[in-house]
Amino acid sequence: MSFPTTRLRRLRTSATLRIMLRETQLTPRDFIYPLFCVHGRDVHEEIGAMPGVYHQSVDQLAGEAKEIAALGIPAVILFGIPASKDEIGSENYAANGIIQQAIKAIKDAAPELVVITDVCMCEYTDHGHCGIVREGRIVNDETLDVLARVAVSHADAGADVVAPSAMMDGMVRAIRSGLDENNYGDVNILSYAVKFASAFYGPFREAAQSAPQFGDRRAYQMDPANAREAIREARLDVEEGADMLMVKPALAYLDIVRRVRDQFDLPLGAYNVSGEYSMIKAAAAQGWIDEQRIVLETLTGIKRAGADVILTYHAKDAARWLNG
Ligand code: PBG
Repeated sequence: MSFPTTRLRRLRTSATLRIMLRETQLTPRDFIYPLFCVHGRDVHEEIGAMPGVYHQSVDQLAGEAKEIAALGIPAVILFGIPASKDEIGSENYAANGIIQQAIKAIKDAAPELVVITDVCMCEYTDHGHCGIVREGRIVNDETLDVLARVAVSHADAGADVVAPSAMMDGMVRAIRSGLDENNYGDVNILSYAVKFASAFYGPFREAAQSAPQFGDRRAYQMDPANAREAIREARLDVEEGADMLMVKPALAYLDIVRRVRDQFDLPLGAYNVSGEYSMIKAAAAQGWIDEQRIVLETLTGIKRAGADVILTYHAKDAARWLNG
């Protein structure tokens, strides 16, 4: 049956019909909201390239957590800026480190909120790399012990989910063993399984003060040109015990989101990263685009590509618009 009998416009004739037939439903429950935690008191400072996103001290987090939960957003992911950085990033696993304090403050204020922590080294090391450096190289296996120790310290503080983002081989297995040995069998691992070496992380590196001090991350993060390798990365993490997978960034990688969704049954996240956010905010500030429509269209696209959850700096605005 084809034209003129079949007319697809018939399905679009009224708003109610369109809503009824919509294939992808975006809701605030799809979002994970990133927070940048810093030492000090009364700190609430906007990040230059990320309007509407703030560095916040721990005392600010109770109010923030309640606001997020009230919007219907189920989860946050935490990034910390330590008081001082060193070669192996010791504050990363300190019992009173910035993230450990932040986890407790959020859990006290909004116990139902799922607290996810980023497990990596780049914010904590003086060289800004995601692993231990020996003679100018990022060494894999020694880094695994540190990542496991960080994950356990986050679990000690009350994290529900740890999200390793260092792109070290074997990191999921090392973290799973560390958690299980310490009786944290219930703590989930959301692996940044497929993470590309991307220029879209630019604004985040200002926000997290985590730019590498020499070289770049291409010896551990993936080449943006590779899709088959993305499947291998995801498969290894599934075998190592990941509970959920993530593809990052999102927008230039929607084909990867779809492939990973089709290939694996695990819950899948996509990270709508800082550069993707900044581009929309900058164009909207110029009056060149309609921010609300662009954001909702973008997030719908990520979900349609196959993501179950979306890590996004737009989460609070989008939730307000969707709840509107
Ligand atoms: C690593 C990490 C990065 C991001 C999240 N975790 C930066 C990097 O790999 O350089 C980027 C997130 C974003 O750009 O929004 N700890």
